[in-house]
Amino acid sequence: MGPLSVNLCGIELDNPVIPASGTFGFGYEFAELYDINCLGTFSFKGTTREPRFGNPTPRIAEAPSGMLNSVGLQNPGVDAVISRELPRLKTCFSKPVMANVSGFSVEEYVDVCAALDPQPQIGWLEVNISCPNVHGEGMSFGTDPNAAAEVTRAVKAVTTKPVIVKLSPNVTDIVSIARACEDAGADGLSLINTLLSMRIDLRTRRPILANTTGGLSGPAVFPLAVRMVYQVAKAVCIPVVGLGGVSSAENVIEMMLAGATAVQVGAANLVNPFACRDIISDLPRVMEEYGIKELNEIIGGASEWEKM
Ligand code: FUM
Repeated sequence: MGPLSVNLCGIELDNPVIPASGTFGFGYEFAELYDINCLGTFSFKGTTREPRFGNPTPRIAEAPSGMLNSVGLQNPGVDAVISRELPRLKTCFSKPVMANVSGFSVEEYVDVCAALDPQPQIGWLEVNISCPNVHGEGMSFGTDPNAAAEVTRAVKAVTTKPVIVKLSPNVTDIVSIARACEDAGADGLSLINTLLSMRIDLRTRRPILANTTGGLSGPAVFPLAVRMVYQVAKAVCIPVVGLGGVSSAENVIEMMLAGATAVQVGAANLVNPFACRDIISDLPRVMEEYGIKELNEIIGGASEWEKM
């Protein structure tokens, strides 16, 4: 193991940096810009059973230190991911990839996970119970501990791959949802998804987003994400993947001190497509600055004082 490596649910990552789902497509678009094998891994676009066109436009709105998106889970559907996206990815990425799975019913989550389970390129299933941009059941699984547990239990029954459940920040008590997923068999948790938000155009006096609301991400949400990762990581025994506004090597280290084993980078990829590559190459400098010899030694370091 090198100084940057971490172990995520039994799979070793060369470094903890993971582009977040929805900001990195299915990888090969970014492989045209740089060798994406420098990444720890990446999480591909949220995949549903059927192809989805997504929400009407406009789907993006700006915000101070962030952005709102309301993409609506646009994706080609699980059959096309298996027949087209994964073979294309194989030509440019030799590491296990994280498959982000979305759904509108327990049965849909199960079907998509069962279809992806035999794919050798897939290392982890990231089960997204927290999309704020779809009507119906998308996010409601992530806002109720019983529903979150039901999805977790059902997908665990159809896969041997580690299941990482992606949690919503749009709740009063994220720890209760996290514990319910852990009790139901989750192998890991990722948090936070975006915050349900809204902007209004002063000229038209109407919402900027066609879907009225969207999910806020970017540096504005980073302190909130750190707080939630800290609370959840202290409360569970399974690994936590931290995300939400991460845009620098310093942010990666802060997330790990909060308790994250690995760290996803989302909106920053949309500002600078080289963001993850640049963060990874900057990590050794920041580690040296703060006297860190091995990254896996700092995981959860910020809660050590509570044990004294
Ligand atoms: O709208 C979207 O596709 C976003 C998904 C998510 O935030 O989980």
